[in-house]
Amino acid sequence: MTDLKGSAITWLGHAVVQITTAKGTEILVDPFIEHNPKYPKSYKLPKKLDLLLVTHGHGDHVGDAVTVAKQHGPHVVGMVELIGWLQSKGVENAAGMNIGGSYKFKDVTLSMVEARHSSGIDDGGRTIYGGVPIGFVIAIDGGPVLYHAGDTGVFLDMQLIRELYAPDLGFLPIGDYYTMGPKAAAIAAKHLALKTVVPIHYGTFPALTGTPEQLEEHLQGTGIQVLKAEPGKTLR
Ligand code: NI
Ligand code: MN
Repeated sequence: MTDLKGSAITWLGHAVVQITTAKGTEILVDPFIEHNPKYPKSYKLPKKLDLLLVTHGHGDHVGDAVTVAKQHGPHVVGMVELIGWLQSKGVENAAGMNIGGSYKFKDVTLSMVEARHSSGIDDGGRTIYGGVPIGFVIAIDGGPVLYHAGDTGVFLDMQLIRELYAPDLGFLPIGDYYTMGPKAAAIAAKHLALKTVVPIHYGTFPALTGTPEQLEEHLQGTGIQVLKAEPGKTLR
């Protein structure tokens, strides 16, 4: 697989990803813990998180953001309207960005990129505007360039993500129904010129039918590796 150069990544089921950089910066993406049937309940998050990244306003991505922010004290980064809503719920240390922007934090450069999806926030039965959904490119100093696509369909401007940031490893949704499925995810991986794909957002609920094996079939002969992660098992 892609050389992580001392960094570590852990898939925690659905779209939840934890990254520890070689220098010890702790990052968590899309906290969906309490109601996530695939979250490894025995897994211990680091006591102190440096960064909490949220891709959009759906409950299976921000469901536990307020709790995690309060318990683990991270700097929370997301789309400006979604961050505004999190601040209205008591999140204090937060930064609202927008598409095309980058943000340097310790040994990590975050870039906010496009995603094709929606981002309404369910707030006690009312839907609140959460801005548009996004993905993150996470470039680690001296380490790999990671891409978390959030929830998205495939889009041709993924070629611009490749041209601008050249990600090595991508966390791509493959479950279908709410996001792209395996065939589209394979096309995405080719446009992004990834070396490694870690499939996410599949198998959580019955509707998410795409499998890593189907993704592998669609990537046959391309040299792009599918890394089937186990929830809670750290890859280095
Ligand atoms: Ni979503
Ligand atoms: Mn989702």
